[in-house]
Amino acid sequence: MNRNIGVLISGRGSNLQAIIDAARDGRLDARLALVISNRTDAYGLVRAREAGIDTLVRDHKSYASREAFEQVLVDDLRVRDVSLVCLAGFMRLLGATFVNAFPNRILNIHPALLPAFPGLHAQRQALEHGAKISGATVHFVDTNLDAGPIILQTAVPVLDGDTDDTLSARILEQEHRIYPDAIQHILNGRWTIQGRRVVFDQR
Ligand code: GRF
Repeated sequence: MNRNIGVLISGRGSNLQAIIDAARDGRLDARLALVISNRTDAYGLVRAREAGIDTLVRDHKSYASREAFEQVLVDDLRVRDVSLVCLAGFMRLLGATFVNAFPNRILNIHPALLPAFPGLHAQRQALEHGAKISGATVHFVDTNLDAGPIILQTAVPVLDGDTDDTLSARILEQEHRIYPDAIQHILNGRWTIQGRRVVFDQR
C-alpha cells in the first residue's frame, strides 16, 4: 500500500483538519492526495485548499444514479493513485460500486461506540438512551451503515449536565485524536481481519 490517502467530506471538516495537522507534524506518515466533497459549501474544502491539497466537488445530485456517482469518485481517486480512502463526515451511504473498488481500504469515523447508536445524531441517541459512556469508533466501511470491522475505539463519559452540544464536543476531541492514529496503523500494515476482528501484529 502506498501512503496516498483521499478524504471524502460533506461539511465542516474538523476531522479532515486533524488529519492534515497530523500529517504536517509527522504523527501521520501520509500524503493527502485529494479531498472530495459532495457539497460545494463544505467548509472542509476551504481547509483543504489552505493546506494546498487538491480538491474536487462531486455533487451526487448531478449524476443519473448512485453507481454513476460512485464510479466518478473511484476514478478520481484512482487517477491520483490513492490507496486508502478516509470518510470524514461524508454524508452519503456508499454502495458496492465504491466499496468493492477499495476492499478493506475505506475508513470511517463515527461519534459513538459502535455497534451502539449507528446512523445520524449518534451523540443525541446516546443522551436520549441514557448511556453513561459513549465514545468514538474508527471502522472499515462496507455497504451497511456504520457496520464494518472496528479498528480503534475510545470511550467518553456522558455527564449528567450534558447537552447534545457538550457531549458532541467531548467526543469530537477524541475523534481528532484517534482518526489520524487509526490511519497511521492501517497504513503501516501488519494487521489482518479475522472474522470481524481487526488484529494488529504486536511485533
Ligand atoms: C463527526 O462527528 C464524525 O464522527 C461524523 O460526522 C462528523 C463530521 O465532523 N461522521 P467534521 O466534518 O469532521 O467536523
